Amino acid sequence: MSDPAAPHWFLAGAGHIGTLVACYLQRAGHRVSVLRASARAPIEASLHFHGSGRRQHISLPVHTPATLAAPIEHLIVACKTPYTAKALAGCPLAADATVLRLQNGIGSLDGLLAPTTRLIETVTTNAVTGTATVHEVVAENQSWMGDSGPRPTWFDALTAAWPGLVWTEDIRSAQWRKLVANAAINPLTALHDVDNGALLDDAGLHAHMQRVVTEADTLLTALDAGWPGHSLAMVEAVARATAANTSSMRADLQRGAATEIDAINGWLVAQGARLGMDMPVNAELAERVRAAHKVSHASRR
Ligand SMILES: NC(=O)c1ccc[n+]([C@@H]2O[C@H](COP(=O)([O-])OP(=O)(O)OC[C@H]3O[C@@H](n4cnc5c(N)ncnc54)[C@H](OP(=O)(O)O)[C@@H]3O)[C@@H](O)[C@H]2O)c1
Repeated sequence: MSDPAAPHWFLAGAGHIGTLVACYLQRAGHRVSVLRASARAPIEASLHFHGSGRRQHISLPVHTPATLAAPIEHLIVACKTPYTAKALAGCPLAADATVLRLQNGIGSLDGLLAPTTRLIETVTTNAVTGTATVHEVVAENQSWMGDSGPRPTWFDALTAAWPGLVWTEDIRSAQWRKLVANAAINPLTALHDVDNGALLDDAGLHAHMQRVVTEADTLLTALDAGWPGHSLAMVEAVARATAANTSSMRADLQRGAATEIDAINGWLVAQGARLGMDMPVNAELAERVRAAHKVSHASRR
């Protein structure tokens, strides 16, 4: 049952992670509708939670900007980062809207929101795969939500519906940790077409991963002297815990889809340029992934 006092969220990007978050929000009594550019039938999908074996059906009404009765007050952004501008085009946001960003990488909403919009970032180590209608929730680990503002009134009730969700006043540290892991694991596994564990087993790949991490740590320390650095052990732990997994960037390249490289290694390189720092290791990887995408995309046309 939805709670009339709870927010009505509009979801831009009803893929794997967006549908899982819609499910958590519905469990907590929130309303969730999908926002799409053109009218389509309501979404009927199922989630299969591997931890418990439970299966859950989910129905989500679909709106277009033209069918909205009022500007959107609560928006979830869960599309892949390259489609963010397209997904938000023509989306009428209220001046004091709250936007929950669930994407990997950093900066995909830069320049797309009004200064009065509240942007709450979410970093999750949950893992969802599957098809457009069957979402396989492979892992429910930890999720961090936060911004510089106070905890929203709806947050505490949501933790009962969303396993492992915590509020943090230091969301940037969680974002940066995940960014370094993504920057090291995703492009290397994508370019070499290997599982994550190969970065630990192959000495050459491990050395390359170490160079990516060292360069990222140097940049993050230049951005904030309080950054603890020494991220290699953390990245190795992620590669070990996900050793048999295909990274999302590898999967994207395999199917000729756009990758999130610009929001991951590309973000690091852009920050370096802002500070006058060369980032040759990350820049080279980003260029190689962009080139590999062009080839893989063209071969599927
Ligand atoms: N899956 C995970 O386990 C996981 C974990 C942590 C973080 N993330 C992050 O969450 C974000 C979404 O990942 P995901 O795995 O949920 O991706 P996904 O299943 O591919 O879903 C992304 C959604 O983006 C929209 N989209 C795709 N192509 C589009 C296009 N050409 N134009 C406009 N919209 C398009 C679609 O939404 P509509 O069908 O509604 O148009 C699609 O369902 C990414 O930033 C990812 O890094 C994912």
